[in-house]
Amino acid sequence: MSKIPVIIDCDPGVDDSFAIALANSYSGFDIVAITAVEGNVPAVLTRKNALCLCDTLGLNATVGFGAEKPLVRPYFRDASVTHGESGVGTVQFKNPIKTPDSRPAWELIYDEAVKYNGELVLVAIGPLTNIATALRRHPDLPKYIKKFYIMGGGTFGNVTATGAKAEFNIWVDPLAAKEVFEKMEVYMVGLNATHSAAITEEDFDEMISLCGNDPKSNLIKELSKFSKFNSLENGQDNHIIHDALAIASLMNEDVVDFEDYFVWVEDNEEADNVGETVIDFNGQSGKPANCHVAMKVNQPLFVQMMKNMCKFYNENNITIN
Ligand code: RIB
Ligand code: CA
Repeated sequence: MSKIPVIIDCDPGVDDSFAIALANSYSGFDIVAITAVEGNVPAVLTRKNALCLCDTLGLNATVGFGAEKPLVRPYFRDASVTHGESGVGTVQFKNPIKTPDSRPAWELIYDEAVKYNGELVLVAIGPLTNIATALRRHPDLPKYIKKFYIMGGGTFGNVTATGAKAEFNIWVDPLAAKEVFEKMEVYMVGLNATHSAAITEEDFDEMISLCGNDPKSNLIKELSKFSKFNSLENGQDNHIIHDALAIASLMNEDVVDFEDYFVWVEDNEEADNVGETVIDFNGQSGKPANCHVAMKVNQPLFVQMMKNMCKFYNENNITIN
């Protein structure tokens, strides 16, 4: 089976880190690039974390630096309470060895999409600023993208600042999300799906027990310990590894069932639901479906994939000195 060329646009991020590690453990992917965007923590940290994740995981992907702030909104909130000050929990990355590509993320994404001539799968697991910028600069990008997955949106929100409607990735840059949904066919793995895939304390304990003691395994182990602690002790939602579910749904189509609906994004800053992905479940808009919405989730299968990832790194801990 030929490998699927994939670019992951992300804001690492604890769950982004799990997602990248999961993707890196799958032989069916050729991870072409990792691109960084502002989000969970400021871009200076998401960029460093993207480079250091590649170093630690031995991931030979190009890293592209993207946006530092949303298209028009200021970047005024980060999610460090969920991801730690560094963005990767208690993990203490040193200075990266890997260096970024000279092109900004949106140019890197476009160039690779053209190079793979319609075979590239694009996965965005952070705010959509880079994707929207790529589309503004290159309106023909969609014809070069085989499938476009996001972790974002859903049937409810998690950003309390704007009521119960907005999910963080969409809320950070609603205008970017609005433009992306208007221009791309989206596979949306939203909160309604990710919350159905929550990891239990026993699951975390087993993941930790399956990890080895090499640098890759220690990264997964530390992320797992932080996620377990921060959810059980601090009441954060780290037991929901949002971004990893988006990757898992691409790896195995049995993990998530998608239903097709028309979806638009509220970007009116005056609206109380700014940042909501409005899903037209009853077809009121009369508009054709533009989005595959993740609805049913096979949680046991997802958890098994996460445990298999832990085993993978333990069994493949060939460190080349
Ligand atoms: O709402 C969850 C999403 O926001 C995840 O992608 C998490 O990493 C944050 O970016
Ligand atoms: Ca993310």
